[in-house]
Amino acid sequence: MQERFAAVDAHLGRLVDEDAALVAARTAEDVSRPGIEVSPLAGKLLFLLARAMGARRVLEFGTLAGYSTIWLARAVGPAGRVVSLEIDRANALAARRNLEAAGVSAWVDILCGSAADTSAKLAERGVEPFDLVFVDADKASLPTYLDRAAALTRAGALVVIDNVVRGGRIIEVEAAASDPHIAGVRQALDVLASDPRYDATAVQTVGVKGWDGLALALRT
Ligand code: SAH
Ligand code: DHB
Ligand code: MG
Repeated sequence: MQERFAAVDAHLGRLVDEDAALVAARTAEDVSRPGIEVSPLAGKLLFLLARAMGARRVLEFGTLAGYSTIWLARAVGPAGRVVSLEIDRANALAARRNLEAAGVSAWVDILCGSAADTSAKLAERGVEPFDLVFVDADKASLPTYLDRAAALTRAGALVVIDNVVRGGRIIEVEAAASDPHIAGVRQALDVLASDPRYDATAVQTVGVKGWDGLALALRT
């Protein structure tokens, strides 16, 4: 089925206009895990969500080469701000270069370090609340990131979480015992289901990235 999923993504691809800078970010090799960025259709979904809600301030967990970051930065425009948190210095450097090529560098900050730390520092500094948060770093820390995101957003903000289905493995209790990523996603879903600060749903997705899914949570 994977071939078919990818073929349908290719068919839908006419909806997405990628310039050279987006292609360069999506195909960057000089990062820790080439190829794990969101798909073009998902990148444009992030762009449209940000545009639809008139987001001005966006927080991202996990930059990689800056592919999703460019989409989000283009959505908020030069009057907005994107803060992206990345642990790997080489990734942050690659992203910086791609953001410059995309012409959005002036309104994007990449904070290098563990996102648990850098997001805590943002909260301590009392930065202006964010309108949209894209959570796409390590999955083991998801419960922490949801806590940070709640503290760093205004009511009515949207929190989008990538990779919450992982080929269906999130329903396997045994997988959670051996895989901290699966455990993190399962805990995050518990939080979204019970924490009064969030009202959430999730959608399963197929496409070039296989079978996965996104959770969308309104900060109540
Ligand atoms: N959002 C990107 C893809 C991010 S991939 C896009 O769609 O284009 C996940 C990224 O999270 C990687 O770059 C990885 O280095 C980073 N990461 C992993 N653990 C992290 C941590 N503890 N703190 C911050 N970033 C982390
Ligand atoms: C992985 C992480 C991601 O953010 C993603 O989109 C795909 C895969 C991973 O850690 O395997
Ligand atoms: Mg992801």
